[in-house]
Amino acid sequence: MVEFALPKNSVVGEGKTWPRPEGAERLRELRIYRWNPEDGANPRVDTYFIDVDDCGPMVLDALIWIKNKIDPTLAFRRSCREGICGSCSMNIDGLNTLACTKGMD
Ligand code: FES
Repeated sequence: MVEFALPKNSVVGEGKTWPRPEGAERLRELRIYRWNPEDGANPRVDTYFIDVDDCGPMVLDALIWIKNKIDPTLAFRRSCREGICGSCSMNIDGLNTLACTKGMD
């Protein structure tokens, strides 16, 4: 099993705010906790803007959209995309849930 340890006295900092997609009429803001165990830096929260008209309805769709169109360094797990395998388990709005079954609304 992999063990992760945050830097000593770590504090979650404000991360990068990525540019809004050009030409998008309906946007949704996602704030995503980011942490790289290899760089020794504190965790941060990056802000992304999703073009709702170009993205599927689930949080997992938004993460895939971000990875494909904005930030290829965004890393997350997924597999079945239908709520069976549990690979996409994450904390969304303070609740542990599956990103593939959680609607962005
Ligand atoms: S990807 Fe399998 S439960 Fe979400």
